[in-house]
Amino acid sequence: MLGIIGGSGLTRMANLATDRRMEVRTPYGDPSAPLISGRIAGREVVFLARHGEEHTIPPHRVNYRANLWAMRGAGVTEIAAIFSVGGIDEALGPGVLAVPDQLIDYTHGRAHTYFDGEDGNVVHVDFTRPFSPAVRVGLLRAAARVGIAAIDGGVYGVVNGPRLESAAEIDRLERDGATMVGMTGMPEAGLARELGLLYGALAVSVNYAAGRGNSREQVSVEQIRNVLEPAMGRVRELLEHWVRDHD
Ligand code: HPA
Repeated sequence: MLGIIGGSGLTRMANLATDRRMEVRTPYGDPSAPLISGRIAGREVVFLARHGEEHTIPPHRVNYRANLWAMRGAGVTEIAAIFSVGGIDEALGPGVLAVPDQLIDYTHGRAHTYFDGEDGNVVHVDFTRPFSPAVRVGLLRAAARVGIAAIDGGVYGVVNGPRLESAAEIDRLERDGATMVGMTGMPEAGLARELGLLYGALAVSVNYAAGRGNSREQVSVEQIRNVLEPAMGRVRELLEHWVRDHD
């Protein structure tokens, strides 16, 4: 079954005909919100609002382990995760969509694994390609079909937040190879891999990162708000086609 994890600006899927709200408990605590099971174009999908239904949970307090565990428990095998990001690469100006193919994890202090070694087992999962090529292709194909521009590829640098970055921090991320920066891709992508879920991401640039483009002097939080809503309209449309045209 397909799953969608919505980020900032996407706490609800308006085009989802809701069948069920599922309040789920997991061994790791409660997920961010009830799972919403519903249908898009007749096809069953499970939706989860990463920051809670009222957008009250900051990135470093999201219970990523509970979220992914709950999704898998609901029968989800393939996830499209939506992130808002700051664009480091010039091409990633406000409102631009991208389907990243790599990430770098700068987060710390987050519960980031199911394999804590408590049962005496040491488990390492492969993470060479952190985003599932199949999900990436599906998202890019959906974008092409509805005529929504989406950049193929990019390196998502995941920082702890919730504050935004200094210009020098963005310079460092760029030197590392990051083309965009956000706060929620990890540990989410790693946990999905540990659970064997196919996981891909659609990143929405809502601002130029600190020191770049029109954020040279400061990042305008007001501008982020203005960009978010119309961009998420396109995201919803794209996701509808991702679901509709899925094999
Ligand atoms: N930095 C980090 N996370 C973000 C940004 C940013 O500039 N924009 C949206 N999420």
